[in-house]
Amino acid sequence: MKNEEYPPSEDTFFIANNIENEKGEYALDIGSGSGYLTKLLSENFSLVIGTDINYKVLQHQTSYKTKNLICCNGSDALQIKFDFIVCNLPYLATDEILDVATDGGAEGFEIPKKIFDSMCQNIKENGKFIFVTSSLSNYQKLIDYIQKLGLKPRIIAKKKLFFEELILVEAKN
Ligand SMILES: C[S@@+](CC[C@H](N)C(=O)[O-])C[C@H]1O[C@@H](n2cnc3c(N)ncnc32)[C@H](O)[C@@H]1O
Repeated sequence: MKNEEYPPSEDTFFIANNIENEKGEYALDIGSGSGYLTKLLSENFSLVIGTDINYKVLQHQTSYKTKNLICCNGSDALQIKFDFIVCNLPYLATDEILDVATDGGAEGFEIPKKIFDSMCQNIKENGKFIFVTSSLSNYQKLIDYIQKLGLKPRIIAKKKLFFEELILVEAKN
């Protein structure tokens, strides 16, 4: 299995452009990877935590090094309720999980589902969750599942790339 750091990419910058004005007390970046989004959130939130399932990535953060990093699935290790949660999901539809940074499993739903199940324990009432998915995945299934968990989802932005369209979803509690 590949477990290298995912460098800030088109999807990272797409999310960043859409969250730079978010403000509040507690924020969480699930799948923090390089720390690019975690660092961005640190400018506007009093406490920011990054989690990643890949310990090696957290240990070797370099360019966007941040504090408060925890190695776990989703937000499993946390008891805090957050105002704002972001996740640049591993959303690709894949038969197997060969690259933990990008592979979402069947329909691009299997790994996102695990992250959603975990995240929904840690979102404040009136809190907001933002995630990115793709036209190449079954994004409607992700949206329907978030709704089933009790959040109110809506697509807030789309970005066409060469071979896919990135879809940014906001889900309010
Ligand atoms: C697409 S990368 C995003 C990295 C970074 N946030 C960015 O936007 O550039 C997805 C990240 O999620 C992590 N990840 C995958 N499955 C996870 C899970 N179940 N819980 C937490 N992190 C996970 C990967 O290790 C990887 O660092």
